[in-house]
Amino acid sequence: MLHKNLSVNEAGHLALAGMDTVELAKKYGTPLYLMDENRIRENCKIYIDAMRKYMGEGSRPIFASKACCFKRMYAIIAEMGMGTDIVSPGELYTANAAGFPMEEAFFHGNNKTDADIEYAMNVGIGHFIVDNQEELDAVNACALRRGLRQKILLRLTPGIDPHTQKKISTGKVDSKFGTAIETGQALELCKYALSLPGIELEGFHCHIGSQIFDYYPFRDAAEIMLRFIRTLLDACGHEIRTLNLGGGFGVRYVENDPVVDYEANIRGLAEEIRRICAELSIRQPDILMEPGRSIVADSGMTLYTVGSVKTITGYKSYVSVDGGMTDNIRYALYESDYTALLANRPKDPADFCATIAGRCCESGDIIQEDVMLPRPVRGDTLAVLVTGAYNYAMASNYNRIPRPPVVMIRDGDDYIAVRKESYEDLCRNDM
Ligand code: LLP
Repeated sequence: MLHKNLSVNEAGHLALAGMDTVELAKKYGTPLYLMDENRIRENCKIYIDAMRKYMGEGSRPIFASKACCFKRMYAIIAEMGMGTDIVSPGELYTANAAGFPMEEAFFHGNNKTDADIEYAMNVGIGHFIVDNQEELDAVNACALRRGLRQKILLRLTPGIDPHTQKKISTGKVDSKFGTAIETGQALELCKYALSLPGIELEGFHCHIGSQIFDYYPFRDAAEIMLRFIRTLLDACGHEIRTLNLGGGFGVRYVENDPVVDYEANIRGLAEEIRRICAELSIRQPDILMEPGRSIVADSGMTLYTVGSVKTITGYKSYVSVDGGMTDNIRYALYESDYTALLANRPKDPADFCATIAGRCCESGDIIQEDVMLPRPVRGDTLAVLVTGAYNYAMASNYNRIPRPPVVMIRDGDDYIAVRKESYEDLCRNDM
């Protein structure tokens, strides 16, 4: 199976963390997001342990909560002793409502409003990740009004394209996020930050992309960032103590995706960072990473009930399910690959080529094209695997479809982490 928390039980049904998915679909109804809490914790622990061991005591992962945001997630992350990255006042509110220790939260975003900045300071946010000079001014002003110095990381663009592993300066410098090193603007911004009494410039942040399967692009980014740390030290005598390398490693969605050994990659990256720091004669800063996908994706799956099965003669067969782009928009947006199975008979020969369609009034509402399944019939339970990241988080109410519940599995038990939206919920704000 794709991941070790997946199996087929004695009843011949697909199981997640040992729990019968067909039974869970009956109990909670479909569509249904399932998440394996122990798996989330294991993923956290791999990053926590490896980063501490290979990168030093102060180095640690913080959860990119955009990947999966609801109160119970923040509670799990807090229990694991991890910080979190948040990107909006809504995420901030959710973390705070969950009792998340806000000093462990890092506030991202390329356009924080004055109200967002006030709000974040009201709840005692630990760090702002400041995108640009305007924001720096606004954070400084807000901090001065409160008589404090706000800890910040500056978001910089190192000019790396992780997928070609070449430094495509124009492409990545030209980004809506951060301030470019290459153009000289980053150094100017640092000098400016250092002149502001309400700002404590603790570190730098960069994010080079998502779904990266090895550490080489991170090494390339780290090298540019560390060189820039040296530049700033020479120019201003200011030592940067924290380097945040952004999102985490990639995840296996289909058999063809590589298996990524996170620990080995963190070890490899740590060795390179040590070498580069020695070459540059700088003290190694604490390293942060912001994994989202690799913390939650493989803990999750989505269950649907098969409805109509329709073959267009000479073309293809559409298998429609009771969810769709409203609970998983990633194929419509990115043509993302997913593995689909019939959960009630995963071992039957997969000899039927299916295009899995959702129920929205939109022809692009496709979950996956041309996947091999046993010939589905109305009432089968269809499982789409590895949907723990960016599925619930990106869900919508298009066509007034309520969002499915999120059910967590923990130690052989199941509980509701997010309840199913009702039709009343959909009308809650309608006047
Ligand atoms: N940090 C920053 C600044 C980011 O922009 C992101 C992702 C992360 C961390 C987390 O990256 P991860 O570890 O999850 O790869 N909605 C898309 C992904 C967009 C990711 C944007 N930023 C998807 O469904 O694939």
